[in-house]
Amino acid sequence: MFKITAIGGDGIGPEVLKGAIAVLESLDLNFDFIEMEAGKVCLMKNGTTIPEETIKASKKSHATLFGAITTVDNQESPIIALRKNLNVYANLRPIKSFEGINSLYDGLDFCIVRENTEGLYSESEYYDGEDTAVARRIITEKASEKIINFAFKKAVEDNREKVTCVHKANVLKKTDGIFKEIFYKISNNYPKIIAEDYYVDAMAMYLILRANKFDYIVTTNLFGDILSDEAAGLVGGLGLAPSGNIGDKYGLFEPVHGSAPDIAGENISNPIAMILSAVMMLDFLDEKYYSNKIRIAVENVLKKKKIITPDLGGNNKTMDMANAVIDELKNL
Ligand code: NAI
Ligand code: MG
Repeated sequence: MFKITAIGGDGIGPEVLKGAIAVLESLDLNFDFIEMEAGKVCLMKNGTTIPEETIKASKKSHATLFGAITTVDNQESPIIALRKNLNVYANLRPIKSFEGINSLYDGLDFCIVRENTEGLYSESEYYDGEDTAVARRIITEKASEKIINFAFKKAVEDNREKVTCVHKANVLKKTDGIFKEIFYKISNNYPKIIAEDYYVDAMAMYLILRANKFDYIVTTNLFGDILSDEAAGLVGGLGLAPSGNIGDKYGLFEPVHGSAPDIAGENISNPIAMILSAVMMLDFLDEKYYSNKIRIAVENVLKKKKIITPDLGGNNKTMDMANAVIDELKNL
């Protein structure tokens, strides 16, 4: 029995989560889903965007599924709070093209590994006088070592050739200086893996011009956030982009997208990003037989293109697409 904390959040969060839970419940596995709150609606109800009980439930579960939240100005970001509390230092964002879905290249398959605990997302901002605001960009040796080691280990596990470090060490000489130096130091422990590095601005272009040349990309928090949305755009958009936040103990799985207020409430959001995040959760729980099965079911639904949501050019609803995945699973 897997105890899973399920946080729907705001906007399309709860509806995509419902789709993913339906897919998980159709498997021959036992789950106990514990529904918890976070986000804007939660703030209005409970006076906080992330109640203590939500964090506690996550810590007591085998893993957490998170839909999406709507950001509220001047309030703690619940997803950042969760990532910090669970110390899930690696944000894994796989980018994979699907047959039948427009993609800039065929057969794209790479992964962005984003540092998840510091950088410009340290939430350390302050006013310096009346007309100046400052954000601290914190890069530590310890966190850099952890994330870079994680990326190399993943590359080995996955039989990949290369790890690419993305930084801006020509300008951010001290902070990204540390990151780049540690990258090459750690690369010495992995002589069979090619280690290379690019400046983030050049990388933004290379992701368009030669996205098929990458295996694992490791980078700091903000750069990873931006590049992974860009990369999602190469393979069909945010509706298909999953992510996992992984630490030494906990795992938190969420789509890359946000609460999509422009389509919220219409039940037309694409649940696949959330379903593929649940697939990453099954990998984390060592249930690879079932994760592979769902992956194939999703591939089949996208290949057939009979039941797809409007973001992919169809006119089906969120649950239609989740049910299409469940139907495919029955045939596997
Ligand atoms: P967004 O990711 O919510 O939406 C961007 C665009 O992609 C919109 O046009 C939306 O309709 C579309 N889209 C996203 N997911 C989709 C899906 N599953 N199916 C079909 N179309 C989809 O980003 P946006 O609009 O910048 O932010 C909206 C809110 O979400 C903001 O409050 C933002 O701060 C928050 N946000 C929350 C995140 C989280 O919970 N982890 C991550 C990113 C943003
Ligand atoms: Mg983002």
